[in-house]
Amino acid sequence: MTIPPKATELRHVVAAVSAALAHPPADDNVAAIFERHVQQLLSMRAVRLREIPSRYQARLVTPTRTPESIVLGVPMADPAVQAVLEAKFDRGRRLDERDFELLTAAAQLGGLVLQAARTRAVVPPLPASAISQLIGSSRVMAALKERVERVATTDFTVLIEGESGTGKELVARQIHELGRRRKGPFVAVNCAAVVETLLEAELFGIEERTATGVRGRRGKFEHADAGTLFLDEVSDLAVSAQAKLLRAIQDLAIERVGGTGARRVDTRIVVATNRPLSTLVARGLFRPDLYYRLSGVDIQVPPLRERREDIPELVAYFLARHRSERELSLSDAAVDALRLHEWPGNVRELERVIERVVALARTNRIDLDDLPPQVRGQYGEVLAPALAASDSMRAWASRYARLVFERCGRNKRQASRLLNISYHTLDAYLQYGTARSRPAGKRVPAWAREEPGEPAV
Ligand SMILES: Nc1ncnc2c1ncn2[C@@H]1O[C@H](COP(=O)(O)OP(=O)(O)O)[C@@H](O)[C@H]1O
Ligand SMILES: [Mg+2]
Repeated sequence: MTIPPKATELRHVVAAVSAALAHPPADDNVAAIFERHVQQLLSMRAVRLREIPSRYQARLVTPTRTPESIVLGVPMADPAVQAVLEAKFDRGRRLDERDFELLTAAAQLGGLVLQAARTRAVVPPLPASAISQLIGSSRVMAALKERVERVATTDFTVLIEGESGTGKELVARQIHELGRRRKGPFVAVNCAAVVETLLEAELFGIEERTATGVRGRRGKFEHADAGTLFLDEVSDLAVSAQAKLLRAIQDLAIERVGGTGARRVDTRIVVATNRPLSTLVARGLFRPDLYYRLSGVDIQVPPLRERREDIPELVAYFLARHRSERELSLSDAAVDALRLHEWPGNVRELERVIERVVALARTNRIDLDDLPPQVRGQYGEVLAPALAASDSMRAWASRYARLVFERCGRNKRQASRLLNISYHTLDAYLQYGTARSRPAGKRVPAWAREEPGEPAV
C-alpha cells in the first residue's frame, strides 16, 4: 500500500506534537508547536488553532476563504465546543490541491491537539512549590503554618492529629519539603491499607531465604533513607508492629523480617492519625511507650468548620486549578452556603464539591442551585420559601422581626435588643405590610395582617 502524500508530509508535524506530549516543554504549549510546524510545512504567514468562544459559535461558518486567509472547522469530541484552524498567507498566493489536502488533514489532527491540551489542563503538572501549599490565613491556620516551619528545621519525630481530610498528609509533606531532607525521598505508608501480616515486611523489609524461595526486598524504612517516612493512620498498627516501630525509632535501626542483624537507617518519621492516640492508649489499644515517643512534637490540624473564614480562599484555590479549562466564579449566595456547611469531610470534601461543580456547571457563574443538595441544604431550607414568594428584603426582614417579637413574649424592647436594631426600626418592621402602612385596597398577606389586640408598649 502506498502512503498518501499528505500522511508523509504531515509526519514531521505529528512527530513534533508527540514529542511535545511526551516531554512537555516549559515555555511552549502543544498547540503552539503544532501551529509552528503546520506553518512551516505549508509556508504560510501564520497558522492559528483555537477554540471559539460560545457567543460567536452560531455566526461562524467554515470553511471561510478570503484573499489572504482560510478558516477550517476542527472536529472536536465535545459537540458543545467549536474549534477552527486558521491559516494566513500572502495576498495573491494560490492554494492548490496539495495545500487543501494538507490543511484539511492538519485541521483533523488539530482536534487531537486541542483535546490533548484540554486533558492536560485538567491535571496540570504541579510545580514543586505548589505540591504542599497549605492554603488558609485564619488565625488557627497561621499558627499551624508557623509550627510546621519551626518543626521542619528539626529532626524530631512528629505526630499529626486531626480529622480525616483536614490536610494531615499535606502538613507532613510540608515538613519534609521545608527541612534539610527535601532532596531525599518522601515515602508514605497507609498503615490501615496494608494487610496486617504483610505490614512488617512492608515497613522493615524481608530477608532473602533461598531455601523457601522468599525473595528479599527492602522495606519502606530503607526506601526513605535520607528522607522522610510518613506513617498514615498509625493508630491502625498491630501491637507487634508497634513494638518494632518503637525499636526502629529508638535505635534508628531496623531489622528485616527473618533477618539476623539490624541495619542503620537515616530516616525522619512523621506519623498521622485521625483517632486521638491518647484515648487509644487509655483503652489499651496503643502502646504507651510508643505514644510518648511519637508525641514529643505534636501538631493538631483543625477541622474546616473551625476555620470557616478560610473557605472562600480554599474555593478560589481549587477553582484556579481549573482556570485553564474555564474561568469560573461563585455567586455570593453560593459562597455563603459553602461557609455555612458543616464539612464533616473537611477540606477533602470541599475539594470534591468544587471538582463536581466545575464538571457540571452549565454557565461560568456558579450559583446556589449548582451546589450538591447536602451542601446547600440548610441554606435552602431557610431561604427557599422566601425565594419562592419573591420576598423583598423588607418583607423578609419584617417576617423575621415578627417571629422574634412573638418569641420574646411580644416584648418590643427585648426583641429589638435581640435583633440588634432600634426600637423604632423594629416598630417599622412590625408595621410593614399592615393596614397602617399600606394604601387602602391592597391585599395584605396573612402573615402581615395586624393581629387583633396588639398591646401598646
Ligand atoms: N490547607 C489546605 N490547602 C490546600 N489544600 C488542602 C489543605 N488541606 C487539605 N487540602 C487538600 O485536601 C485533600 C485532603 O488532604 P489530606 O492531607 O490528604 O488530608 P488527611 O491526610 O488529613 O486526610 C488533599 O487533596 C489536600 O491537598
Ligand atoms: Mg490522609
